[in-house]
Amino acid sequence: MKKIVVLTGAGISAESGLSTFRDAGGLWEGYDIMEVASIDGWRRNPALVLEFYNMRRKAAYEALPNDGHKALAKLEKNFDVTIVTQNVDNLHEKAGSTNIIHLHGELFKSRSSLDEHLVFEMKELEIKLGDKCPRGSQLRPHIVWFGEAVPMLETAAKEVMKADIFIVVGTSLQVYPAAGLIDYVDHNTPIYVMDPKLPYVSPRANLKLIEAKAADGLPKLVEKLILNFE
Ligand code: OAD
Repeated sequence: MKKIVVLTGAGISAESGLSTFRDAGGLWEGYDIMEVASIDGWRRNPALVLEFYNMRRKAAYEALPNDGHKALAKLEKNFDVTIVTQNVDNLHEKAGSTNIIHLHGELFKSRSSLDEHLVFEMKELEIKLGDKCPRGSQLRPHIVWFGEAVPMLETAAKEVMKADIFIVVGTSLQVYPAAGLIDYVDHNTPIYVMDPKLPYVSPRANLKLIEAKAADGLPKLVEKLILNFE
């Protein structure tokens, strides 16, 4: 079975009603990104950060996967698929994908602010000030913030290096180190980049740019890959 690695960003969840970060009307509007998504912001104002992620968690809980997420799940019938997502929602899981690397963490997990290895599945939709881990420290969202390392990067890079086909969808490729994963792709491997507003990708031999929304473009691309590469 050929291996397909897919790098996804906020754009794949846009048609599920979740805002992207950098489009007009994006999520950061009204919020200072460094206040709600950085380790310094957390230290300054944990209540604001908890409120922000509680709001995002509720929105993600209510959201449903769209045809883009579903197409990627379908791909597993014919390919060995790894999804590397920058998204903290669980829409790939809800669509049925089984092999997902969350580079920037997960909304439905909490963790100790004392020990990053103490991670918990959340049973409720909110983390409140005063909710403690078993070691007595405040619980925080299990999210990789600006100013923090990306622990899953190496695992993701190893998968990307093994890809026979690489797909990038719904990311502006502006946030590193995630955006740098494309440089780990073997030079013989075809790369498909799909976005209604294509991000800049340095030219290379096997690059195919597809100007499309995920819910429309991914089902078509998946059909094509199944026909061509089986
Ligand atoms: P961005 O908001 O930077 O980029 C979203 C991309 O999705 C843009 O290129 C849009 O053109 C595209 N897009 C919009 N609608 C789409 C659709 N229907 N189908 C496909 N694409 C569409 O989001 P990311 O690149 O994911 O990090 O942002 C990367 C990281 O920045 C996030 O993971 C987050 C943020 O800071 C953390 O929270 C740590």
